[in-house]
This record gives sequence, structure tokens and C-alpha cells, in this order.
Amino acid sequence: RKREMEGVEQRKHRRLVLVPGPFQGHLTPMLQLGTILHSRGFSITIAHTKFNHPHPSSHPDFHFLCIEDRLSKDEVQSRDLVSLVLTLNTKCEQPLREFLAQDRIACVFYDALMYFSESAARPLKIPSVILHTNSAASSLARSFLHQLKALGFIPLQESMLQDPVPQLQPLRFKDLPISHFGRLEDHLQLISLAGDIRTSSALVWNTLECLEESPLAQLREDYRVPIFSLGPLNKLAPAGSSSSSTGLLEEDNACISWLDKQCRNSVIYISLGSIASIDDRQLMEMAWGLANSGQPFLWVVRPNLVRGSEWSGFESLSKGFKEIVEERGCIVKWAPQRRVLSHGSVGGFWSHCGWNSTLESICEGVPMIRQPCFGDQRVNARYLTSVWKVGYELGDGENDRRSVEKAIRELMVGTQGEEMRQRMSKLKDKVEVSIQEGGSSYGSLERLIEFLQSI
Ligand code: UDX
Repeated sequence: RKREMEGVEQRKHRRLVLVPGPFQGHLTPMLQLGTILHSRGFSITIAHTKFNHPHPSSHPDFHFLCIEDRLSKDEVQSRDLVSLVLTLNTKCEQPLREFLAQDRIACVFYDALMYFSESAARPLKIPSVILHTNSAASSLARSFLHQLKALGFIPLQESMLQDPVPQLQPLRFKDLPISHFGRLEDHLQLISLAGDIRTSSALVWNTLECLEESPLAQLREDYRVPIFSLGPLNKLAPAGSSSSSTGLLEEDNACISWLDKQCRNSVIYISLGSIASIDDRQLMEMAWGLANSGQPFLWVVRPNLVRGSEWSGFESLSKGFKEIVEERGCIVKWAPQRRVLSHGSVGGFWSHCGWNSTLESICEGVPMIRQPCFGDQRVNARYLTSVWKVGYELGDGENDRRSVEKAIRELMVGTQGEEMRQRMSKLKDKVEVSIQEGGSSYGSLERLIEFLQSI
């Protein structure tokens, strides 16, 4: 204990600069990593873009640096997130380097998308470490896309979608992590830039050996620098801190008191994350599928979830559905998701399978209905059904109200759902073992701290 305290004292003056990606699913894990490293004695500066910036007042232990990203209004409003990220990388390098040059920095941690950070740190001889906020399997699949394109498999052919990708078992062509934002060429360019580790000294994945042993082993063969599987970051963060909000949108906590009134394992929670969107028709099919399922539901309908229209509350839904919501539903713009999933009333999660949502559901032992929308979500969804067998497969395109109703009933009260719940509960136990002393993620964190002391 004394040695540990001495270690903390020595590290207090060692400053780490963390550069998160400017999207919810990227900000949250980086802020969690910051919380963990701060608790181990490091001083933390979060260097973030002006675009989608985190809220400093929610993190009084950190310093914040706002990088002037000089994005135009059109760039900020663009739905082409791939070209937005490419632009940020060209605009942010210089201001970050100027900041890094003013202080003594021990190491820069950066989101794989923010590869300009390495270019800013390298000339100053500051070591850098990359954080991957997606799964190891999706990183592997991404690294393979160029090869598949060269072989003529990409753009994907309709006739091959169900075929397995031989080198990427258990993925089929339809599960490949291809973005639907912007041009394919830009996406492939971003993948190679973000996948190039340049002079970075180590790689961190927010994942666990017990979930992704084989993809992690493959990544360790592919890269010659240390790889730390440090997940789930939300559980490794010291107790209490992980509940502090990392959200860009304000959480509606009223849904927790609504959950308090529901029966155990009875509520289906629905959220498609922070980026995915649907059209009006899909919204109606979801609504009526939920209504016809007979289950209580908590549904996140964020402001830009429905393409082309601002969510105007229940007015856009019919009177009949309104009555059902009053009887057994709760609709919010943004939920405190980790608290929701750990609530005893929640028995299922209908999700887009973003990596954070997937990990959070596994951590709480909540079985899922999977509805991937784009990119790495497809890889996660495939693992949920075919590797961990804890996710019910709802088609990944448009789903009519009948298939929605069937999926919800099967997950919440059917035998398949019960089997998935049991498997999820076992996975949850494995996650808990991993983060305890002697567990793989616990050990990974210790090795990362030693590594940081050595550089
Ligand atoms: C994006 C990609 O879609 C995802 O596939 C990738 O792995 C990370 O970047 P996002 O769509 O936002 O992320 O999904 P996800 O990774 O699941 O992250 C969403 C986060 O928002 C989760 O931490 C979740 O707890 C939180 N959330 C979501 C809330 O706090 N409240 C909500 O109402 C919905």
C-alpha cells in the first residue's frame, strides 16, 4: 500500500494529454480512460475539438484544452462524418502541437480517428498511445477492407452478402464494417490513416480477453508494439466516477423513477445510439411493434433520430399509440443508459450494437435484440448472435411491425430469450472476474501503468 501511494505521488506531476474522437461513442471511453489514469496519479488534460466538445464542469479533476478546429458551418452540419474526420485531422495538428510544446507532457493518448495527434507529438519527441473505442474484431475486419477491395469484393455484391469472408470468420460479407457516410474512397482512406500506428508506442482496446481472445491474438501478431485489452473501461473506472455523465445530450433521469414502478425484467429498452437514424416509416413500425408486443418499454428518441424531421413528441404518432405510451411506455430524448441497463426492471435491450452499448449490456447481463445500422455495429451484431449467442437477430434493414413484435416477445418471454439471458448472465460473471485482481483486464491495466512509467 505504501509503495502504491509513493507511486501515485511520483506520478502526480506527470501529465497525460488525451485526445478523444468528437462523437459520443468515442468521447465516453476516452473520458473513462482519463478517470482511470487520474485515479492512478496522473494529471489529465483532455484536448478536444470545438466540434462536439465535452462538458468540463462534469469532470472537475481534468484540465481541458479546446482545439480551434476552424470548421465551417457547412462542415459542422454535414452528415458526411468521414470527410468531417479527415478535415479535422488536417486542421487540428498545428494548434495541438503549439499546445504540446508549452508544457512537459509524459504521453499523448489519442483516439485512432484523431491520428493528427501523433503528427503533433512526434516532432516534440512525446510518446503516444492509440485508443481504439471499437471491438478488436471490427479493427481486424477494417484492416482487411483494402485487400477485399483489391480482390474486387468491394463494393459489396448483393449476391455475396450471405457468404462467409474466409479470413474473417464468423463474418459474412454483409457484416463487414463499411460506413454509409460519404464516399467509399474517403472511408477506405480514413481506415488506412487511422489504422497506421506510425511511431505510437502502444495500442489500447476497450475490450476483454474473455470476449475477443482470438481477434486480440491476431492483432498481437499483426502489430509489434504492446497491446492492452483494457475493457470494459466503464467498469475499470473507480466506483462512483463512471456514473458521472459523459453525455453530449442532457440525460432525462425521470425514466429511472418510471423504471422503479415496473416489474423485474419486464421492460424492453430501445436505443439506436448517438448517430444512427431512421425514417418516419421505420419509426412507425417500431412504435406499433412495441405496442403490439404487450411489453412495457423505455424508448430513446433523440432529436435527430428521425431523418428529415425534428422529433416533435407524440404529436407525430397517432392517438392510439399515445394511449399505449401512457399505459406502459416511457419515451425520452436521451437516457442515463448505464443506469438504465443496471436497473432490475430492464430485461432486454433493442440496440444498434454500437460497441459501447454492446459492452454496457454485457456488463449488466441484459440480452439484446440486434439491429445494426452501419460500420462496426454489423461486426458486433454478428458476434452477439453467432459467437456469444446473446442477441436476437432482427433484420438489419427495415423491419415491419410483425417482426418487431415477434422479436420482443421472443426475447422477453420466449425460451430463446431465456437461454440468451442465462448466457448473458454467465458473460457478465466473466467480465466481473476479468476486472478483479488476477483477472485479464486488471492485469492489463497494471501493465499499462508500468509501461507509462517506463517511457
Ligand atoms: C458510434 C458508433 O455507432 C459505434 O458503432 C462505435 O463503436 C462508436 O461510435 P454510437 O452510435 O453512439 O457510437 O454507439 P455506442 O458505441 O453504443 O455509444 C453510445 C453511448 O451513448 C453509450 O455509451 C451509451 O451509454 C450512451 N447513451 C446512448 C446514453 O447515455 N443515453 C442514451 O439515451 C443513448
